[in-house]
Amino acid sequence: MLEHLDRLPPDPILGLMAAFRADADSRKVDLGVGVYRDERGDTPVMKAVREAERDVLERQTTKTYVAPAGNASFNAAMRRLALGEGSPLADSDRVCAVQAPGGCGALRLGAELIRIARPDAVVHVSDPTWANHVPLLSGCGLKLERYPYFDARSGGVAFESMMRALEALPPRSVVLLHASCHNPTGADLDEAQWREIAALLQRRALLPFIDMAYQGLGRGLEADAYGLRLIAGEVPEALIAVSCSKNFGLYRERVGCLLVVGQSSAAAEAALTQLVRIARGLYSMPPDHGAAIVAEILGNAALHAAWQSELTTMRERILQLRAATAEALAVACPQKDFSHIVRQRGMFSYLGVDKDTVRRLRETHHVYMTDDSRINIAGLRMENIPYFAEAVARALAQ
Ligand SMILES: Cc1ncc(COP(=O)(O)O)c(C=O)c1O
Repeated sequence: MLEHLDRLPPDPILGLMAAFRADADSRKVDLGVGVYRDERGDTPVMKAVREAERDVLERQTTKTYVAPAGNASFNAAMRRLALGEGSPLADSDRVCAVQAPGGCGALRLGAELIRIARPDAVVHVSDPTWANHVPLLSGCGLKLERYPYFDARSGGVAFESMMRALEALPPRSVVLLHASCHNPTGADLDEAQWREIAALLQRRALLPFIDMAYQGLGRGLEADAYGLRLIAGEVPEALIAVSCSKNFGLYRERVGCLLVVGQSSAAAEAALTQLVRIARGLYSMPPDHGAAIVAEILGNAALHAAWQSELTTMRERILQLRAATAEALAVACPQKDFSHIVRQRGMFSYLGVDKDTVRRLRETHHVYMTDDSRINIAGLRMENIPYFAEAVARALAQ
């Protein structure tokens, strides 16, 4: 039976990672894979994580199963982190939370829940969106469509087109929104736009599914959750997939959480029973270690403060890199406008060059990015920004 399986082409990002590893040039720059890097090019274990991990291991007396819904302290802490400390919704019985294997696991749990509630639901994602949204959401049989999002000329959100498209959706359509640090464009909605979206979702009876994978890495922990909190507070139902991969640096530990806001406590309870069954059928129990670390950090004032301060350093570094990159590109390539890089937020921006230029950057200048010219800003270092800007200028001129 298995001999009839088609061989699939390698995943583009994994292929890019392998090509980067094989490149022996000391000037090589990896702007492909979406992980945060420090000024030395490392993705270190955060100090707060290290400390919390020690505490967790010292106290741990068993490795027995936790539960399909995961660690209860973690779930409670994630409600507060995402929905806001002290917000009525964070403590509301209209909300249920389940731990998930990463933001990806949370997205898939949410998609499965939607499919059970409404097998013919259509999920509308931004054009463009993170490539993995497609298999995660459509893999369980949901139909996916796209709404206009990015205005390549301004580097911002094509807000009017987006609103027009959402306005035309049939009631009960699902709308996937990025809470902040839009992947791949870095173009985020501002507060006034979030307010308009929240009113539209409410008016048109659309179901928001919000993906928050970069809380704290754009404008700050509170500002990055502004739209999510506004929407969750106004609409009757919402799904929220949260990832702790980037803001806690816990990528390989697979830590995430799905929050479901229901119309009533009975609806939230029913959703929880469904999510537990979905989890049982997919992976049974989520991994414990990373969630225990996050629960420890968020439950301890000193660790919480230390983590926030490290996160602030990461965010500020990204902002400095954005400013320095846009400035260096303005000097090296005066004929092309790269100022969108300063206006955008989070780890990603499009460089805005064609596939041939991307190829020349890789083959001639050892600068690696995906074919759509998405760059991970955190993959740059202050010291190699001049090299990068010069490489872009040369690749554009070739
Ligand atoms: C937009 C977006 N959502 C969700 C995720 C989920 O990541 P993870 O499953 O590693 O937590 C990512 C990771 O790159 C992402 O970029």
